[in-house]
Amino acid sequence: MTYQATKVYRTQILSFQQDPGYVPLEQAVDFISDALLVLSNGKVEQVGPFEALKPQVDAMGVTIDATFQDSLMLPGFVDTHIHFPQIEMMGAYGEHLLSWLEKYVFPTEQKFADPEYAAQMAELFLDTLIAKGTTTALVFGSVHACATDALFAGAYQRNMRLITGKVMMDRHAPQALLDTPETSYQSSKSLIERWHGKGRLGYSVTPRFAPTSTPKQLQQARRLLQEYPDVLLQTHLSENLHELEWVKSLFPDCSDYLGVYEAFDLATDRSVFAHGIYLSDSEINRIGQHRSAISFCPTSNLFLGSGLLKWSKLRCPNHPISLGLGTDVGAGTCFNLLTTLNEAYKVTMLGRLERPEQQPLTAFEAFYLATLGGAKTLKIDHCVGRIAPGYEADLVALNWTPSPLQKMRQSKIQQPFGSLEALQEKLFALMMMGDDRNVQCTWVAGVPYACGGNEP
Ligand code: GUN
Ligand code: ZN
Repeated sequence: MTYQATKVYRTQILSFQQDPGYVPLEQAVDFISDALLVLSNGKVEQVGPFEALKPQVDAMGVTIDATFQDSLMLPGFVDTHIHFPQIEMMGAYGEHLLSWLEKYVFPTEQKFADPEYAAQMAELFLDTLIAKGTTTALVFGSVHACATDALFAGAYQRNMRLITGKVMMDRHAPQALLDTPETSYQSSKSLIERWHGKGRLGYSVTPRFAPTSTPKQLQQARRLLQEYPDVLLQTHLSENLHELEWVKSLFPDCSDYLGVYEAFDLATDRSVFAHGIYLSDSEINRIGQHRSAISFCPTSNLFLGSGLLKWSKLRCPNHPISLGLGTDVGAGTCFNLLTTLNEAYKVTMLGRLERPEQQPLTAFEAFYLATLGGAKTLKIDHCVGRIAPGYEADLVALNWTPSPLQKMRQSKIQQPFGSLEALQEKLFALMMMGDDRNVQCTWVAGVPYACGGNEP
């Protein structure tokens, strides 16, 4: 990649060191209300309080950019579950998961056999991620290798840290969308060889979900994971009650849904399972033991009427589960992770109807999920998900007050950032009232893209 000159920003910085749900806030949260951030060659070189770093920055002779002095800079958002070929059928009316797949998803995904069409959609998909502040995503492709090539090519051009994979699916879908155990293995393998580790890209083996793969195909997914020890696995798990019944009838020898993936060694520390709504206590325990991750997709779960994630069960200190946030577009209804956090909070509040003791999602937990938590689920928290020296300069600047209403609301909270509690209150109002208007600028490996809440 081309060399980038040093840039210095004066800004507010929020980043996490650990999950604020499990350790005291002082250990989890790094907040600097008046910071200098030095970026060099696509990475964070230094970050610290303005007064402390200013002499050093002055000596470097670099101009300080104060455009974001009143904005909140965070690590770029991490979307841990999203479908590239579903953007054109977002907001499709009136179906639960299985009929929604038949009626809307499968017809749409067939269009991605055309590489030109896929390339055109990849542009919009990637530009939209960036416009909403998302710099990293774990993405489902379609069954077509050429569409996954197109997405990788677009992400490579933008130097994004993106992980994706071609869907493996050899049954229970229209013929035009089916591969076979052997062809799914071969084309996944050649995609891995072409793209995995190139620039900032990574591969994820992607069986759609247990019902659309034969045991033979799940064996091929296992073979890929064994041959490539640093690729991820992504699939769906326990999203919908009809889906659960179907899995039981297709795999009668497995004790439960997770048991199907376990039977093929697909529940590993590299596995990201989308949803996990109906997991039993035993399944939750076993996910913790495997150190697999769950992607919480609230807008999707509400939109498809799938159900409510058992938040407090997944947050049990006895078996902490690695959790990320996912939009699950096109069942998810937006790309914006602020909006997704808004819905996540509501899911945890509704869950109290059944579990009154459940502590709803806090603002610190929310912003952790959208940044470092997501990076951890994707096993890339050594290079993204934090603002710290040596980390890649994937960032998002949020405007606290893009409207008179948000400005007034924020002004009612203690200023200026007297305590972590006051900060948490401000962050909570931001995630509940915020939307695309708040996303001011996104940096991908140090390169800024002005957003201003606009569509690309
Ligand atoms: N389960 C299997 N395929 C899909 C999909 O495309 N979206 C969602 N939300 N769930 C699935
Ligand atoms: Zn999904």
